[in-house]
Formats: sequence, structure tokens, C-alpha cells
Amino acid sequence: MDKIVVLDFGSQYSHLICRRIREFSVYAELVPYDISLEKLRELGPKGIIFSGGPSSVYAKDSPRPVPEIFRLKTPLLGICYGHQLIVDNFGGKVKRANKEYGHSVLTIDNGSDLLSGVGSSVRAWMSHGDEAEKIPNSFEIIGHTERSHAAAIANRQQSIFGIQFHPEVVHTENGIQILKNFVLNICGARQDWTMESFVEKTVKEISKIDGRVLCGVSGGIDSTVAALLIHRAIGDRLGCVFVDNGLLRLNEEDEIKKMFEQNFAVNFTAIDAKKQFLDKLKGVSDPELKRKIVGEEFVRIFTEFAKKNGPFRWLAQGTLYPDVIESGVSKGPAAIIKTHHNVGGLPDWLDLEVLEPLKDLYKDEVRKVASILGVPRHLLLRHPFPGPGLAVRVIGEVTEKKLGIAKLASRIVEDELEAAGWYDKVWQAYASVGDDKAVGVVGDERKYGNIVMIRVVESIDAMTADWSRLPYELLSKISNRITNEIEDVTWVSYVISSKPPATIEPQ
Ligand code: XMP
Repeated sequence: MDKIVVLDFGSQYSHLICRRIREFSVYAELVPYDISLEKLRELGPKGIIFSGGPSSVYAKDSPRPVPEIFRLKTPLLGICYGHQLIVDNFGGKVKRANKEYGHSVLTIDNGSDLLSGVGSSVRAWMSHGDEAEKIPNSFEIIGHTERSHAAAIANRQQSIFGIQFHPEVVHTENGIQILKNFVLNICGARQDWTMESFVEKTVKEISKIDGRVLCGVSGGIDSTVAALLIHRAIGDRLGCVFVDNGLLRLNEEDEIKKMFEQNFAVNFTAIDAKKQFLDKLKGVSDPELKRKIVGEEFVRIFTEFAKKNGPFRWLAQGTLYPDVIESGVSKGPAAIIKTHHNVGGLPDWLDLEVLEPLKDLYKDEVRKVASILGVPRHLLLRHPFPGPGLAVRVIGEVTEKKLGIAKLASRIVEDELEAAGWYDKVWQAYASVGDDKAVGVVGDERKYGNIVMIRVVESIDAMTADWSRLPYELLSKISNRITNEIEDVTWVSYVISSKPPATIEPQ
């Protein structure tokens, strides 16, 4: 498989570069900026990209790649800080400039290769405080903006390019075309990264392992896809365990059991641990403590299962690529199978090796794999749900009563959004409940009931989120249904806080 390697110099957009390239079916991998020459050679990329980053090349201790990288015959593209690194390395000069942030107009001076097909001038997204004052002698300027005279430079003989703006950001017009020009035309990479080829390659790789695999499934898409891939490779040597902690959405435990039993021929065990979880959560209202208790209880039940039903050699997890990068445990170009212990708080004595078949994939890629593996469509489209479940949506102590209200009210929110065509437009939609109460009147009688909070947010990656401007009619319908159908509720409120400063979940 042809590869593009992206060296991460710390830009908030580094990941996006990989995502954009993968979107046109070329495999791209983010690696630390100081990757060794040996590791880089092992990866054998068709092209190298330097990401942007917050540093200045003239600062002491600025991040630098191994110097040999500039002498490789591999095509090189520097973006923002990466561009400045190229300027600096080949004898140009980078200086502090007036900060340029947001849209600029890029005028193309030479559109023969990197900037081919983008037009004569385009909107380009800038985010920098330094600029190339003097470009190296071996380079020419191929694009400029009003404030950056060397916004795009090229050394065609050596296939080295630098651009001050961010082609990976949607605000840059024809940014994808620029990445395509580099990856497909200049590097000559083949578009052979497809999810069909991923499934084939991964199944082949997993089929080589010995021993049995234990996979915890939550009913969410990641663990389901991980389990199905492993099942394709090793069949009955896989055991799936689903722990019903009583903190799931309404009837979700039955839906998950049904989904596994009816659709997939995997070894599947459901453990009913509702009472254990509720007992452990009794009297606890601190949000962090609730999270900790849920996490620990889950591990305890899981490890007990492993002890009784073992031996298992492997523990499978649905870890995704962003998790690997973010947790800093990226093992670079290692195979999909790696050995380490105590992952996710599992005790040392469990002594399982870890199998993470999705660790190279982004969420949208997992969705494609899921569809290849026959995961039902409604699961593909279901909103994300937090690991600690309703323990973080019920404010204060988790009681049966509040759980019941949260489940029923959330179902009403989901159903009404679905009916109004809003469900697929929003990131998450649910109802939360705490201990606050309000007086209501029902059939001339006073009633002192709970306040329910509706939370509906729009987001791209959950890092930031905005509350959904739902139509009043829809909100009114949801409110009426909740107060009519759930006896203990008198008030319904709508949460209009965005993230930041709020978070998506209340706890
Ligand atoms: P917050 O509340 O931090 O949530 O804005 C961001 C996203 O993460 C989900 N979330 C979790 N997911 N385990 C998970 O698997 C957790 O402990 C957890 N906490 C929050 C949340 O639903 C939202 O999509």
C-alpha cells in the first residue's frame, strides 16, 4: 500500500491532513516530528508532509526533524511551520511577522504542478505569526498573498514545496486539489486505501494469532466492528462479553442482545450486573466518583468472567486512531497486534495481550467497515453514548426513579427528533434529570415533580459543540409528551449552553 507520512509539529490541524488524504483513498499516517530515519525508511513513504505547529523556527529548541530527511529523494511538502522549516533549512530567512489569521487571497504565480487546477486566485486559510522573508536560492515563489510574498514556494528539481496556508482546512478553496496534486501527481501515490482492502488485510493478519480472544462489547459501533473483524478471522476462538450495567438507554440491553444473537454468529455472553452497579452507586453524588465506580465495577466483572471462562490470551479493544494519537501510546509503524499490559485499568494479573484492529482508522472509516461487515444501519447512525452511561446524565445520586425518568424522557426526545427529521442532523440528543423539583398542577391538583433538562447539540468531533436551534414546535411537542407521559415530571427545560464553556454531558 502506498503511504504518505505526515510529521506532526503540533498543529491543531495535523490530523486533518491525514483525514483529507485518506478521503481520496491514499493511506496517510501521522508520526512524531522526530521520527528516526530508520523508522521512516521502514515506512517507505511515497511522500512526506511537515504539518504546521505553534513554534518559531528561529527559537531555541524549536522542533526539528532528523536532518537527513531533507536529503531523501522523497517528495516533501511543508505546511505553515513546515514551510518555514524548509525555508530555514535551505538557507532562506524566516522572521516574525504581523499575525495573519483567517482568510487571505492567494494569487497563483505558477500553477504548473502543486497549484495546478486551483484557479488564478483562491481563498486560503492562514494562521501564522512568522513568514518567509527571503526564500532559499534553489526555490521559486509560486503563490503569494497581500501580506506573504512567499506564501507558496517550490524547488521542482527536488520535488520540495512549501505553503504558508492550510490546504487541509475546509476554508481553503480547492485545498483538496492542492493535496491531490502533491500526493497523486508529484508523489505518484496510488489510491489503494479502501475499507474493503483494509478488511481483507486485517482479517488475514488476525488469523495468524494463537489462542482465544476476549472482547468486551458495549453495543457501540467500535467494539461491535472490532468483534466482527476478529470473528471473521478466528471464528469461535473469540468470546464477546456484554455487561449490562443498568445505565443504558431504554431497552438498549435487549436490543444489543438481539442484535448479536440474530445478526452475528459470535460467541456472546450477556452479564446482568444492574443490581451490582446500582448498589455500588448508592449514596454517591460526586460526578468523578460515579465515573470511577462504574469503571472499576466493569473491570471487576470482566476479569471475573475471564478467570472463570479462560484461558484467554488476548483482550480486544475498539481503540481508534485518534485515541492512539491522543493518548500518546502510538507505537508508530507497529503491526496491528501489540503487546502491553494493564490497558484501560485492567489488573496486571489478567496478563492479556492487547488486540486493537481499528487502531489505524478514523470514525468515518469504521462506519464504512461496519457497513461492509453487515452491521445494521440503525447502529451506524445511532448517536454516541458515554461509557459511564446514565450515571453521568443523572445528576446527583443515581436512583431507579431518576434512571427511569432519564430513559423515558430521552426516548421521547430521540423519537420526536427522528419523526421531525432532526435526529441525523445533530450530534447527541437526550434528557437529563437531577434532584431539582418544581410545582405543577394536574387535574386541579398540586404536584411536586422533577425538572427534566433536554440537551441537543451539534458538533463535528465533540471537542466543541453548539446547542441545536430546534423549532419551537418540536420543543413544545417534546415537552408536552414528557409531562404527559412521565408521571414524576412537572417541568421541561432546554439547555442553551455551548461547549465551551459547558461540556456535552452534565457530569
Ligand atoms: P463532554 O461531556 O466531555 O463529552 O463534552 C464529549 C463527548 O464524549 C462523550 N463522553 C464519553 N464517552 N466515555 C465515553 O466513551 C466517557 O467517559 C465519556 N464522557 C463523555 C460524550 O457523550 C460526548 O459525545
